[in-house]
Amino acid sequence: MKIREHIPLAPLTTLKLGGPARYLAEAATVEEVRAAVDFARGRGLPLFVLGGGSNLVVADGGFPGLVLRICLTGVEARQEGDKAIFEAGAGEDWDAFVAHAVSQGCAGLECMSGIPGTVGGTPIQNVGAYGQEVGETIDAVRVLDLESNQVQELCNPACEFAYRSSVFNTSRRGRYIVLAVRFALEPGGTPHIVYADLKKHFAGLDGLPSLAEVRLAVRQIRLSKAMLIVEGDEDCRSAGSFFKNPVVSEEQYRALAEVAAGRSLSVPRFTVPSGQVKVPAAWLVEQSGFPKGYARGSVGISRKHALAIVNRGGASAAEVVALKDAIQARVEEMFGVRLVPEPVFLGFEGD
Ligand code: EPU
Repeated sequence: MKIREHIPLAPLTTLKLGGPARYLAEAATVEEVRAAVDFARGRGLPLFVLGGGSNLVVADGGFPGLVLRICLTGVEARQEGDKAIFEAGAGEDWDAFVAHAVSQGCAGLECMSGIPGTVGGTPIQNVGAYGQEVGETIDAVRVLDLESNQVQELCNPACEFAYRSSVFNTSRRGRYIVLAVRFALEPGGTPHIVYADLKKHFAGLDGLPSLAEVRLAVRQIRLSKAMLIVEGDEDCRSAGSFFKNPVVSEEQYRALAEVAAGRSLSVPRFTVPSGQVKVPAAWLVEQSGFPKGYARGSVGISRKHALAIVNRGGASAAEVVALKDAIQARVEEMFGVRLVPEPVFLGFEGD
């Protein structure tokens, strides 16, 4: 395996900014993953595992360690009881994998069509969209455990999936390298239409749409929000949602609603299974003086969705962080809610 030096990372991310990696390794086998880890250890370098770069902000100074790009591919499928088991290499393109599952008539991933990135990135933050989360269908995650140096499998409960979180980005952050993900899908299953945007899309339809129709609809909806990567559309030069949707108690929501009522606004709310209330971060951002299309130097807010910070061309990571800070400060000042960023920050202080 070739390990290259001083490699620009911006082209490997969807936000297209930030500095170079001191070293970059591309691993196509588990042995190469191990070799890259040994290389970093031998030189005392920090290690960062890169998937599709779709949820990543790289600092302008780049990363002084080894960036390991996971290129493990391959998809295997088999039937187990009433489930269709699909095991995909971590480096497989996520959307191509979803397309494959849908083409096989297997339900469980269709609402997560059109999401950029790789299969291996999905368990880290428990990727979700339009009413589905990968944590609902992941059977197990095969990892290289950097503590024991062993390949092992974490079953679903061991991953502790929650909203945009798992052991991989919380309690055991940095301990595992995801090698493959195993999904248990439903052959011949019906599509999952619970999300308002999807219900609206299919409102006139008699009966249920097919999985393929749902996949197409999700891609269309994402396109309208610039959450589908389209060459040449600068509104999708982003890291997707830049903040998590705050989940608050009923009491906190009432306090928030009162502040908003003072400004003649009513705060949208979505009740989550825990009984708590999810407040759309996009709404908070928009109402705090950062509307769609807002511009500040080379960065701004997407013209099609208030939750995406976009690089309008030639932006620096410092500009992105300054806008993020300004949004957090203003939302907190106005609504008393501290927004938590969703992307991973690489090469920044405290990394
Ligand atoms: N809204 C606004 N302004 C906007 C857009 C939305 O006020 O410009 C408000 C509306 O009230 C709307 C609500 O926000 O009803 C929710 O908006 P949307 O349906 O677009 O979803 P979201 O909550 O902003 C989440 C995920 C997305 C995922 C979509 C669809 C998070 C942080 N984001 O966005 O995931 O695709 O739902 O399920 O949970 C990502 O994580 O990068 C991502 C794109």
